[in-house]
Amino acid sequence: MSAAFTIRQATAADRAVIGHHRVAMCLDIGTATPATASGLERATVAWLAQAMPSGEYLGWLATPAGHPEQVVAGAGVQLRRVLPFPQRHPDGRVDVAEGRQAIVVNVYTEPLFRRQGLARRLLESILTWARSVGLESLVLHAAPDAKSLYETLGFVTTNEMRYGGSLTRP
Ligand SMILES: CC(C)(COP(=O)(O)OP(=O)(O)OC[C@H]1O[C@@H](n2cnc3c(N)ncnc32)[C@H](O)[C@@H]1OP(=O)(O)O)[C@@H](O)C(=O)NCCC(=O)NCCS
Repeated sequence: MSAAFTIRQATAADRAVIGHHRVAMCLDIGTATPATASGLERATVAWLAQAMPSGEYLGWLATPAGHPEQVVAGAGVQLRRVLPFPQRHPDGRVDVAEGRQAIVVNVYTEPLFRRQGLARRLLESILTWARSVGLESLVLHAAPDAKSLYETLGFVTTNEMRYGGSLTRP
């Protein structure tokens, strides 16, 4: 069924719809409140205005075939340079990675278009891109509804922890 949709790379002109995806995703998974939604959207669109032209953020969007203006799903990556790390390959070999990492973000499908394989296709596009640019590490934070999708694509649960206290200056 998803052949009826096209996956294309986002440009900076798509930043409004990516901002919408981010807010809708955060509301759906409960990390944003309606009161914070418009502020988050504004801040995201402003951030993308810098991060897309610089190449720090890359996005992929799904549109119905023949309707490139109607975006119904999206996903993106933020590229980041981390410290070199020991990298274990599937064959057991360990070498030193230079630190080319990306985090998958803003995975969102409009409710009417869910369960048609769009998020899967978007993630497959990201994996194809990651291999083509020689990325060394691809990470994400999985929402409950998306966990099995990520697992079937080869993502595994790690030991990452997050500080739960306040980092605001007293
Ligand atoms: C999670 C989400 C992105 C999935 O998008 P989608 O386009 O419907 O996903 P797909 O059709 O590609 O689904 C692929 C597989 O993921 C799993 N999946 C998708 N939605 C699911 C759900 N609500 N509950 C459990 N598993 C789900 C299924 O295994 C599905 O395969 P199947 O339809 O053959 O059973 C979408 O429901 C969404 O936008 N949710 C709100 C935001 C969110 O949680 N984003 C993820 C942040 S990490």
